[in-house]
Amino acid sequence: MTKEKNSMVKALAGLPKNVWKSVFRNPLPSSDRGRASTSFTNFFLHIQPVRVSKQALRPSYTMGLGLISFFLFVILTVTGVLLMFYYVPSTTQAYDRMLDLRSSVAFGIILRNMHRWAAHAMVAVVFLHMCRVFLTGSYKPPREFNWVIGVILFILTLFSSFTGYLLPWDQLAFWAITVGTSIAGYAPLVGKSLKFLLLGDATVGQEALLRFYVLHVVVLPAVLTIFVAIHFWRIRKDGGLAKPEEVVPVKAQVAVTVQIEQPVAVASGAAVATADAAPRRFTIQGLVRGPFVKVGKLEEDTVFSWPNLLIAEMVVLLITVIGVMVVSILFNAPLEHPVNVMHPPNPAKAPWYFLGLQEQVSYSAFWGGVGVPALELLLLFLVPYIDRSNAGVGRWFARERVWANTLFLTFVLINVVLIVIGTFFRGANWSFVSPF
Ligand code: HEM
Repeated sequence: MTKEKNSMVKALAGLPKNVWKSVFRNPLPSSDRGRASTSFTNFFLHIQPVRVSKQALRPSYTMGLGLISFFLFVILTVTGVLLMFYYVPSTTQAYDRMLDLRSSVAFGIILRNMHRWAAHAMVAVVFLHMCRVFLTGSYKPPREFNWVIGVILFILTLFSSFTGYLLPWDQLAFWAITVGTSIAGYAPLVGKSLKFLLLGDATVGQEALLRFYVLHVVVLPAVLTIFVAIHFWRIRKDGGLAKPEEVVPVKAQVAVTVQIEQPVAVASGAAVATADAAPRRFTIQGLVRGPFVKVGKLEEDTVFSWPNLLIAEMVVLLITVIGVMVVSILFNAPLEHPVNVMHPPNPAKAPWYFLGLQEQVSYSAFWGGVGVPALELLLLFLVPYIDRSNAGVGRWFARERVWANTLFLTFVLINVVLIVIGTFFRGANWSFVSPF
């Protein structure tokens, strides 16, 4: 009896340690072998490489923009699921549910603010991440396909935000989506059908609300998750982030001499192996043309992912969560009057990221709304297949890429200026007004 009691006491005393050990198989690593093994055996860490380049960890290189995009997506998923407990996609209830969230649900207002501000931030941060990748030439081989996946992620991010815009069912939402979907209607041949497919009706109403809801909470997040997973997998397969040393373009020819020793005696044309034969030496000489891939310097250029990368990721997560929370405490997400189809605001404006498009539409419905954006998207997709040179990879504003970067920055500047004009300088009937 006392024996049983003793072993029971022992088991209870060892409970915390045993539970910990059952979850974390390895003790905190103190050797290089342990650090490598931690990366292999941990479910969350095994998607990372064991070693990571020092350049990838430098905040001034990536600015953490890809990671911030990912963490914003995680925040949106968590807050979005919590919001689903209260929201009803019905034209008669949606607005009232928004009022309930603001007044009677515990932390409801913070939850809604976090979801709204994180969504705006994700659009902006994903765009900035795309700019970082371009300006460091990181879309060059072998990363062409990951750039294409990235462009798809950018489009999915825009549409996730756009479909969420309608859900509060207030004046802002209703008229922004009315304008946004009418831009889609300008597409030749398919425009009208596309608009009908989106709205499920001729105008924005109950059918549109339900379709936007299903797209927003199921379809787009699921597709985004799949593409983010492919994006991360490709980063691993492409050898981590692009580094300037990867390819050293050497134009000159280099003489190479290779010596092979072989303990083989050759008798009358046939190869006969003899144990005591003196080793024979063969020399092959040739000229090899560049560019050469550099594979050395592994130790100096890289550090263990555990704990270096993990700490960097946790710092970025903390900054992202704190940033979104602080903004959500300081500023409330807008909620205007409930929908009134008889009283359109003048002007009715699309969400800010489509205001550049709306501005273009004011010059030409087809070219502004469809022609130019389609051409821009096509060019974005084709960037890595048009620009084939390997110069200036992995460096910000490399001299060798001055033309590519200038063209890209011009394209970015034009779009930003159009958005600023659409947001601040357009008043009633889309006339030019001064915001000052
Ligand atoms: C939901 C959106 C996205 C997420 C969550 C995401 C996430 C990431 C992360 C975490 C990295 C590695 C770290 C970093 O570069 O900051 C990365 C790298 C990369 N991303 Fe994205 N990304 C997204 C969108 C995009 C877009 C829009 C593009 C381009 C059109 C893009 C192209 C790339 C490329 C080519 C790399 C490899 C860069 C290199 O080797 O230096 N990504 N992404």
